[in-house]
Amino acid sequence: MNPDAGEAPEGTRRDFLYYATAGVGTVVTGMAVWPLVDQMNPSADVVALLSIQVDISGVEPGTQLTVMWQGKPVFVRNRTAAEIEAATAEEVTDLPDPLARNANLPDDALAVDANRAVPGLETLLVQIGVCTHLGCVPLGDGAGDFGGWFCPCHGSHYDAAGRIRRGPAPENLHIPPYALSEDGLLTIG
Ligand code: FES
Repeated sequence: MNPDAGEAPEGTRRDFLYYATAGVGTVVTGMAVWPLVDQMNPSADVVALLSIQVDISGVEPGTQLTVMWQGKPVFVRNRTAAEIEAATAEEVTDLPDPLARNANLPDDALAVDANRAVPGLETLLVQIGVCTHLGCVPLGDGAGDFGGWFCPCHGSHYDAAGRIRRGPAPENLHIPPYALSEDGLLTIG
């Protein structure tokens, strides 16, 4: 698909659908969490709501698991060797956004593949599935011109490391705080 080619009528309808989906998720989460926050201060129990645990043992290479965390989709992708090879071949200086955008690293960490993937498990990529342009949910499974994710709202292409490569999105997909235990349990948040 050529993102520069106009697709106005259909694109407009899709814009609405994607915005509507993202908006409803956010609002519902906010409404659900607020009564708990209100009732359970001080907030030890509320803190628990801020993190989730995910069993990633069934995520096969080349597939993606999407979970919800704090009202946002989080993509957990087990990458193929070809995806990793393509992502590691890119020079940071060629990227529109040179920063890793990884909450587990310093703010100035560079967007090399190693700073995007889970340390010690380079096949695994954990990132918030919200386009950094206006908040749509990108399509995955190798979508777009760079083998990663594609946001059809306005044509943002992300590569196999979730880095913006073309289109209006200003930043790479953000990576949430996480930890991976030895038995394959991923804690997000
Ligand atoms: S929200 Fe505009 S390109 Fe993704």
